[in-house]
Amino acid sequence: MRINGEEHDRPPRPGQCLRTYLREEGCFGVKKGCDTGDCGACTVHVDGVPVHSCLYPAHRARDRGVTTIEGLAGPDGPHPVQQAFLAAQGFQCGFCTAGLIMTTAALTEDQRADLPRAFKGNLCRCTGYRAIADAVAGVVNTGPPAPGPSVGANLGAPAGPQVVTGAARYTFDLDLPGVLHLKVLRSPHPHARIAAISVEAALSVPGVEAVLTHADAPAKLFSTAQHENVAEDPADTRVLDDVVRFAGQRVAAVVATSEAAAEAGCRAITVEYELLPPVLDPEAAMAPGAPRLHAAPRNVIGELHATLGDVDAGFAEADAVYEETFTTARVQHASLETHGAAGWLDDDGRLVIRTSSQTPFLTRRALADLYDLPPDRVRVLTGRVGGGFGGKQEMLVEDLVALAVLRLRRPVKLEYTRAEQFTSATVRHPFRVTLRAGARRDGTLTAIRLRVVADTGAYGNHGPSVMYHGCHESLAVYRCPNKATDAYAVYTTTVPSGAFRGYGLGQVSFAVESVLDELGRRLGIDPVRMREINIVRPGEPLLAPGGHVDDLSIASFGLDQCLDHVRAAAARPDDAPPGWLVGDGMAIAMIAAGPPGGHFADATATVLPGGYYEIAVGTAEFGNGSTTVHAQIAADALRTTPDRICVRQSDTDVVRHDTGAFASTGVVVAGRAVLDAATALHEKILAAGDTSTVGLTATGHFDGTPRSVAFNAQWFRVAVDPETGEIRLLRSVHSADAGTVMNPLQCRGQIEGGVAQALGATLAEHVDIDATGQVTTTGFRQYHLPTFADIPHTEVHFATTTDAIGPLGAKSMSESPFNPVAPALANALRDATGVRFTALPFTRDRVWEGLQRARRSP
Ligand code: FES
Ligand code: FES
Repeated sequence: MRINGEEHDRPPRPGQCLRTYLREEGCFGVKKGCDTGDCGACTVHVDGVPVHSCLYPAHRARDRGVTTIEGLAGPDGPHPVQQAFLAAQGFQCGFCTAGLIMTTAALTEDQRADLPRAFKGNLCRCTGYRAIADAVAGVVNTGPPAPGPSVGANLGAPAGPQVVTGAARYTFDLDLPGVLHLKVLRSPHPHARIAAISVEAALSVPGVEAVLTHADAPAKLFSTAQHENVAEDPADTRVLDDVVRFAGQRVAAVVATSEAAAEAGCRAITVEYELLPPVLDPEAAMAPGAPRLHAAPRNVIGELHATLGDVDAGFAEADAVYEETFTTARVQHASLETHGAAGWLDDDGRLVIRTSSQTPFLTRRALADLYDLPPDRVRVLTGRVGGGFGGKQEMLVEDLVALAVLRLRRPVKLEYTRAEQFTSATVRHPFRVTLRAGARRDGTLTAIRLRVVADTGAYGNHGPSVMYHGCHESLAVYRCPNKATDAYAVYTTTVPSGAFRGYGLGQVSFAVESVLDELGRRLGIDPVRMREINIVRPGEPLLAPGGHVDDLSIASFGLDQCLDHVRAAAARPDDAPPGWLVGDGMAIAMIAAGPPGGHFADATATVLPGGYYEIAVGTAEFGNGSTTVHAQIAADALRTTPDRICVRQSDTDVVRHDTGAFASTGVVVAGRAVLDAATALHEKILAAGDTSTVGLTATGHFDGTPRSVAFNAQWFRVAVDPETGEIRLLRSVHSADAGTVMNPLQCRGQIEGGVAQALGATLAEHVDIDATGQVTTTGFRQYHLPTFADIPHTEVHFATTTDAIGPLGAKSMSESPFNPVAPALANALRDATGVRFTALPFTRDRVWEGLQRARRSP
C-alpha cells in the first residue's frame, strides 16, 4: 500500500487491522483509543475516504493510498485543518486530535453544517467539544506571543504544532526494538483463593518467554494510590496475589514476543479457585458476619465521625427541615489513552519505566520500595499523557512491567485494552449520601447532618481520603454553626474505586446542593439568595464537623461574583419546545486549591545559549495546560517571551522531586516553584552584569501550604419532554473564581471540559456490575461517553480576584468545575417537573419513571 505517498510492501499479518499495521510502520499519529470502532482516534483516509483503521483489515488497503495525520500536510506546510486546530487550540491532551483532524479534513460543506452528525464517530474526553467547534469554524483563539506580560494572555500550548501534526509522542509512540508484550490473566470470580495454578501449558506456547504468578511477586503490600504521605492509603495490594477480591483482578502475567502469543499463553493457564463469598454492597459489607476482605474490621477502611456545635438543638430551631438519600454511580475516567507502560534496563543497568502517569516521582519511589532498589537506580518518565483526570495517579501497570523487566532483563510493555480499562482500572467511588438540613424562616441554616457510605471497592486506594475530602469543603462552604458527619469508606468485592476529578466532592455536593434547593423551596427563597444567606465570607473560618482545617483559608473570595453571574444568566429567556416542561437550577462548590498534608514541587531555571531558558519541572502534562502556564510564568519573571522558554518535565532525572500532577496543583504548586526559580535566576542575571550568563541556574521549591480555596457556580435551564423523559439543556452557564486567570482560553477549556465530563456522569455514564460481580460495561458503546451532539455550549464567566497564596494570584481550576454540575441539573429538573431525582445518572428511563410515579401519586 502507499502510505502518505510512499510504497510499503511488508505484508500485514493475518487478521491484522490497519491501525496496528500503520503504527508498526511508524505512523504513531494513528492512535489506539478503543478496539471497537467507537472513539475515532485511529481515523485515517483510504483513497481519500475517512475510516476507523482499527476496524479496517490491513489487507484491504492493498494497492490503495492511505493518508495518516503525518501525511496530511502539503508542500507549503500543515493542512488548513491542522492550522485551524492550532489557531483555535482545539485540543487539550491531544490524543483524539489526529482522528478529529482527519475526519474534519474529509468533510463536505454540507457535513460541516451538521457537526453533531459529522463527529458522531469521534470522541474527545477533554475539551467538551467547544474548542473543536471553534477549530472547524475557523475561530482564531491564539497566535504568536504579543508584546507585554504573557500571564493573562491566551498563549497556545507549546506542544500544539506537534499535536496537530501527529508528531507529539505519547507513551507507546516509540520504537522499542525487541520489546516483549505482557498480557494479564484476570479473575472471573469476585472473591476467591487461588488453590493451584498450572503454567506449563502456557510456557510451551511458541513465543511465550515467562509466566508470572503470585509465587514470583514480592510479598510486600502497597497501595496503587500515590500520595506524598504514604500512610494516607492502606497497604493492601500485592503485585500478584493468591487471593482475588474482584472479578478482573490480576491472576497471572504472560510475557511473550507478540501480543497474540501472550494472549494464547493466558488462555493456556489453568487455575483452581477456592471460591469465597462475595459482597457487592457496602452496607452489606459493614454488617456483622459479612465476609472480610482485608484486616480492617467490618470492611471499613476509613471512617469519620465529627460534630460541630449542637446539631439536635440546631434542628429544634429550624422552621423547615428536609432529609433525603442520594446515590451516585460508578463512573470511569475514560481518558482516551488507556493505562500503559514500557520498561527496560538502560546501558547502566538502571530500570527505566516510560508510563502514562500523573505521578512519575511517586511511582519511582513505590517501585524502588517494592523491589528494594535505591531510588537512583529507577528512572520514571512520561511521554505526552493522553488524559488522566486522576485515574493515572495510581500505579496500575508499572509494578508488573518492572517485575517482568527485572526478571527477564529485556524490554517489556503492557498496554490496557479499553475493556480492561473498565474491568480492571479504577472508577469514581459510588457514594450513598443521606443529608438532613434545617433552616430558619429567613433561610439561615441551623443544622446539617451528613451520613456517607463510600464504596472503595476491593482495595483501599484513595478510599479514606476521597471520603474525607468529599465531606469537607461541601459543608465548610456554608457557615451553619451545627454540623455532624458520619462517613465510612468500605471495601466490597468490586472493581477498585480511585482518584477522579473532584475527589469525592461531586458526590457529596450532589446531596448538599439538592437539599439546600429543597429547603429554599419550602421557605419560598430563591436559590441564589439561599446561597448568599449561608455561604462563608472572607475572614471567616472554614468549618467542617470537627473544626477548622489549619492550613486552609479564604485567601481570595469571588463566590459572590459567581452568584451574580448566575443571577444575571437566569434573567434571560430561552425558547423551549412546545409542551415541554422548563426549569432552572443552580449549585455552587468550593474546593481546596491543593491537597492537605503537603504537595511538593521543585523547579530549576537555566540560561541556555541564544537567549533561551530551560525550565525543568517534575509535574506531568496530560492536557491540563500546566506547561503553557509554566512558560508564561517563567517568561514574565525572566522578562522575555514564552517562545524563549523550553519546559522539560515529568522525568525523575530532570528535577529532585515533584509530588505529581493531581489535585489541580500544576499551576498553584509547581507554578509557585517555577516562579521562584525564574525570579531567582533573573536576579542572578542582573547581578552578573556584562559577564556571560549562559549556564547560570537557579532553583525554586514550594511545599503546597498554606492553601486557599477556589469557587464554582453552575446554572442550567432545561426542558423535559413529559411523555418520554428526554432532557434538553437549553442553556448552561458556569462561573469560576480561579484567582488570577493565567490563560483565559486554557482555563475556559478546563471548565468546558469539566462541565462536559460531569454532564456525562449526570446524564448517562455508569459502569454496571451484575449480580455475580462481573463488570458488564466493557466498551464505549455500552458506556455512552458524551459525543459532540450531547454537550451544549457552556457560557463561562470568571470572577475578578487575586489570591494571596497562589503564584501571581492564581488558584486551581482543573477539577472543581465538575462538582456543581449534577446538583445544578437535579435542581433544574426539580424546577421543571416537580420531581426530586436522587440517583445519578438521570437517564431518560429514570426521568420517565420519576414522572410516571409523580403522576400516580400527586
Ligand atoms: S481506536 Fe479505532 S475507533 Fe477507537
Ligand atoms: S483532547 Fe480530546 S481526548 Fe484529550
